[in-house]
Amino acid sequence: MSIKSEYLKLFVTATEKAAYGAYKFIGKNDKIAADQAAVDNMRNEFNKIDMDGKIVIGEGEMDEAPMLFIGERVGTKRGQKIDLAVDPLEGTNFVAKNLPNSFSVLAASEKDNLFFAPDTYMEKIAIGSNLPNNLVDLDNSVEKNISLLADAKNTTPDKLTVCILERPRHDKIISSLKKMNVNLKLISDGDVSGVIYIVDKKSPVDMYIGIGGGPEGVLAAAALSCYGGQMQTRLVLDKNESIRAKEMGINDLKKKYNIKDMIKDDVMFCATAITNGDLAEGIKDQKEFYEATTIALHKDGKVNTLLKNKHKK
Ligand code: FBP
Repeated sequence: MSIKSEYLKLFVTATEKAAYGAYKFIGKNDKIAADQAAVDNMRNEFNKIDMDGKIVIGEGEMDEAPMLFIGERVGTKRGQKIDLAVDPLEGTNFVAKNLPNSFSVLAASEKDNLFFAPDTYMEKIAIGSNLPNNLVDLDNSVEKNISLLADAKNTTPDKLTVCILERPRHDKIISSLKKMNVNLKLISDGDVSGVIYIVDKKSPVDMYIGIGGGPEGVLAAAALSCYGGQMQTRLVLDKNESIRAKEMGINDLKKKYNIKDMIKDDVMFCATAITNGDLAEGIKDQKEFYEATTIALHKDGKVNTLLKNKHKK
């Protein structure tokens, strides 16, 4: 079922206010304070909204996160039953160190329509729209996926760009890509944006690949569900995490998820930039006001827009 369109504006305000909370900590080298400010502001906004909201992806379990913990109820309890995946500060390092590409992000859907991903790592591969279905696969070699994508785009691997988090765990993938002369976009953090690059007209990225956060994977899938694009993911679980995942009802621990498995129906996605970035300008301080830029998407409403709003400080 669709989420009522009037919720989009309210969710945009929630990420805008969260972004402004974190904005005050840009360059303060304090990830925790920046995150807390974003969380506080987002929660405060949620609780003004007439919805029966539940956090399904949040800041962690109840005992480790004081606010926006998984299972927390938000809203006035009067409106639609809505599940929320939140990352009030995506790119804590970016804000702490005053680097580009930090966002405040959320995804919202009707109750039970978002994948309840545990807070673990996740393998991810994503490509843009207008390509054959299930073109690439996590079980293919990097070489095979690149060749398939190059053929489908009627081009050669040296004309493709792949975005990947720069981490030692990705050394092998990066070396395979280099051997094929593929162009790299190496990011130090922020793989929600990393995935969105594949559908952003200004970014020359053709594929996102690698292991990142599971919650970020679901948020990116929500964005792609609105933009159109393909994504395949699989949880990366150690022994304890496997037990926990089973307790959460995930029986097939090796399952490969596509967007429809993670986002079952209608979804909204909002991402407000905190520091300036490739996808959107950061918060602009204008004396009594601040201006926030937000990617606002609603699948069923066919909304795909970059909004600029001003708020009183
Ligand atoms: P935070 O904002 O929570 O610090 O996460 C940033 C991030 O880069 C995510 O975008 C990504 O999914 C994850 O961390 C990668 O984790 P790790 O830094 O452990 O490789």
